[in-house]
Amino acid sequence: MVRQVSATRPDTTVIAEAAAVLRRGGLVAFPTETVYGLGANALDAAAVQQIFAAKGRPANNPIIVHVADAVAAEQLAAHWPEGAAQLAAQFWPGALTLVLPKRPEVPEIVSAGGPTVGLRVPGHRVALALLESAGIPIAAPSANRSTAVSPTTAEHVLGGLDGRVDLILDAGPTEGGLESTVLDLTVDPPRVLRPGLVTVRQLQEVIGQVAIADRWVTHGPNSEEPAAEPSEEPAEKPLQEPFAEPLRSPGMLARHYAPRAKVICIDKENETRMLEKLARGSSLGWLRLPGRPAREFSEAANIKVIEMPPDATGYAARLYAALHELDGAGVEYIVVDSPPHDDAWLAIHDRLRRAAHTE
Ligand code: TXA
Ligand code: MG
Repeated sequence: MVRQVSATRPDTTVIAEAAAVLRRGGLVAFPTETVYGLGANALDAAAVQQIFAAKGRPANNPIIVHVADAVAAEQLAAHWPEGAAQLAAQFWPGALTLVLPKRPEVPEIVSAGGPTVGLRVPGHRVALALLESAGIPIAAPSANRSTAVSPTTAEHVLGGLDGRVDLILDAGPTEGGLESTVLDLTVDPPRVLRPGLVTVRQLQEVIGQVAIADRWVTHGPNSEEPAAEPSEEPAEKPLQEPFAEPLRSPGMLARHYAPRAKVICIDKENETRMLEKLARGSSLGWLRLPGRPAREFSEAANIKVIEMPPDATGYAARLYAALHELDGAGVEYIVVDSPPHDDAWLAIHDRLRRAAHTE
């Protein structure tokens, strides 16, 4: 069941209906400023269990709890450090998830048996109205089948979860297009577990030192070299290279955010391979960045080109929709012009890397 709802002035009767579904233990997919979430009452273990079932999500992957404000977040955390208060004041509502020690009220299933809980106040009118109306914290991962591309529209949600969710609130495409930044505040210095729309530099400006796993190794996005062990990096480490390996943290799977088509970041060498595949009748999708040198396969008939925005914000907003679109078109390969390598593009490189990862 899909209900249209205004992204700026959500209809209170639709919101009340969705809140009622949540309160009786059902699942509601709803928009946030990042991607659509698949929500359940975070304090109801049986309801949260349904999220795992609907997504085919491994039980060892904890779920973010969405709350209406920082006060509500503090009530679920066993400890609320100064850094949490500062970050909440700066970025909430917004695309930052804070991992903190959990209170016993947070069911084990939400934290995947661990001692922490990920908390965030979403920056979307519909999500906030739903939280207010339901009066409960909402556990919500992205509303896609496990390891698939996250949804940025209600159509994407339906495509993956039709028949597995009680209600979908459709408020149009989400603005941000990539998931929140996940920051672990239970370690010193705080550590980024997943780069996202709030950049590492923005975090550093508020709390100073921030650790990140060692992914500034030299090998490129499609390298088959084994990844190095992660190590903590000082905050001053320049951010020049994309993530070269996934994080060793619950749920930080190497292959994730992956379309059905095989994703390949193009360079000179695999450009030739792609030409050969095209000659043999394969179909290609191409995420093209403006201002790049002409590719030899530019003119091929069996290639579907999507022009990507040249700025990180625009690119992030477009990326998942582009991947969904190319999967919908049934292409076998998706080639990607590798984006620039600076802080603003870190989350994009991370998602491209995981989308391209093969076992
Ligand atoms: O933007 C977002 O974060 C979206 C919207 C719906 O809020 N949610 C989202 O949830 O992306 P999900 O489950 O697809 O990704 C959350 C990530 C997972 O990789 C999970 O392992 C990690 O955050 N996470 C959640 N709670 C955690 C915890 N207590 N400790 C460590 N990692 C945690
Ligand atoms: Mg997800």
